[in-house]
Amino acid sequence: MNQQKIIIAIDGFSSTGKSTVAKQIAKHLGYIYIDSGAMYRAVTFFAMTQGFIDLEKFNINGLLSKLKNIDISFKFNKSLGFAEMYLNGENVEKQIRTLEVSNFVSKVSAVPEVRQQLVLQQQKMGINKGIVMDGRDIGTVVFPKAELKLFMTASSDTRAIRRFHELKSKGENVVYEDVLKNVQERDYLDSTREDSPLYKADDAIEIDNSKMSLDEQFTTILKLAEEALNK
Ligand code: DC
Repeated sequence: MNQQKIIIAIDGFSSTGKSTVAKQIAKHLGYIYIDSGAMYRAVTFFAMTQGFIDLEKFNINGLLSKLKNIDISFKFNKSLGFAEMYLNGENVEKQIRTLEVSNFVSKVSAVPEVRQQLVLQQQKMGINKGIVMDGRDIGTVVFPKAELKLFMTASSDTRAIRRFHELKSKGENVVYEDVLKNVQERDYLDSTREDSPLYKADDAIEIDNSKMSLDEQFTTILKLAEEALNK
């Protein structure tokens, strides 16, 4: 087998199971896994805690004035088997996954200056390849030359049910209709924003996993990764 390392870019709508399969593939290949959405979530959480964003307002200039002070990093947690998100030295893995953060993240991630800063950081992470990154613009903007690009889809109902169970299992008191509304709103905002909207790159392979088991999904994508590795 060709030992050259590659970049695997996984894009798609929210809750399409990108991170689940990305983690599995990264573990199998001994690659780094980066959840780029966690970075946008961390900036959003920062904006919330500083009072720059709430239901009534979004003080973009306030956020921009503090952007350079936001330190975002991943630290690998051996017992969990994946890297957790740290914001200015504090583990915020739990805080960034709430529905409240999900409700504001599309607004924050539409700000070009925020994207510029995070994209630069993401590109540095991929400099030595051997990376699986998931998000919305990984195959189109962050790594347009990635050796393997996947575009994951599933019906919005399927995705909302998945996200609902995930939030419930974490102890969040959520209503299914609110989760579905969030999934549909983010689909719309993420794919219609001006800067780096979510769309399928011409050379991305589309995977609709609405009816796939986790095993089937893993086997399908691993085969594609092995083909890309052997090219
Ligand atoms: O993957 P996720 O659902 O945790 O991502 C949260 C939000 O972050 C998503 O709704 C849009 C934004 N995002 C982005 O704009 N670009 C990325 N590469 C990843 C996420």
